[in-house]
Amino acid sequence: MKRYANEGPVLFLDSGIGGLPYLRYFRERNPGENLAYVADRLNFPYGSKDKDTLVKLLSSLLSRLVAAVSPKLVVLACNTASVSALDSLRKEFSGLPFVGTVPAVKPAVLNSRISLAGVLGTERTIADEYIRSLAGKFNPDCRVMGVAAPELVEFVEHALDSASKAERLNSVRPYIEKFRSAGADSIVLGCTHFLFLLDEFRELAGDDMTIYDSVSGVVTRAESLLSRQGLWRRGGGGGRPRCFLTGGGEPGAAWEKRAGDFGLELVLFDNAKSEAL
Ligand code: DGL
Repeated sequence: MKRYANEGPVLFLDSGIGGLPYLRYFRERNPGENLAYVADRLNFPYGSKDKDTLVKLLSSLLSRLVAAVSPKLVVLACNTASVSALDSLRKEFSGLPFVGTVPAVKPAVLNSRISLAGVLGTERTIADEYIRSLAGKFNPDCRVMGVAAPELVEFVEHALDSASKAERLNSVRPYIEKFRSAGADSIVLGCTHFLFLLDEFRELAGDDMTIYDSVSGVVTRAESLLSRQGLWRRGGGGGRPRCFLTGGGEPGAAWEKRAGDFGLELVLFDNAKSEAL
């Protein structure tokens, strides 16, 4: 079995900005670790693609990233990528540990008082059988209401930086109303992009609906895998994480700003080549 380098980074992957809150939380707790991020903006959005397409494009992207940065652990900080391709990536890159992100359905169905939990995700995630099987496994009596929100993914990726508080609230409101009128007592944020609107979800949900997300679950899982496999970095500061942007062209003002906000070094990553440009 191939061993992956101990000094390689923990790599977080998403189609865009969705995985950044995961990287930030991990970094706050583990400032000595070497981290990297990839935003696959070339293939954004993942949610409108079918499973086979996602398996192929993620396999190709990861092969190039493995060649370029030799990650010691990969966090798929993307629900769509995880429900579609986690199993096949684990098989293909055996020896490289992966942590997937799946909607926090377990606490929502276990704590539901009225047996109806809401899940908000991309079209691909909501269509996947995985969500319902997860709910059935933990509480077969609880129904799951899945709603796809591709416009909200677009809003977060492309319009959030310049949006006012009122626009943020308005972007979330129709989903809150949909779940509330159906009688759900929870909303599981099943797309990592929605983390950027967590405050707005909480504000509008008030006391009658609980909002669940997967940040601490995913980060804790990554930490325990690093411990179990003896992959913790010994000593030294982690430095600025490199953020690989696929798709060519300039990073653009939005990514420059995000790099500042999240303390990242931007790197243009040509998907067709195996090294970082
Ligand atoms: N952030 C991703 C997720 O968690 C998907 C966004 C997209 O459609 O690309 O599902």
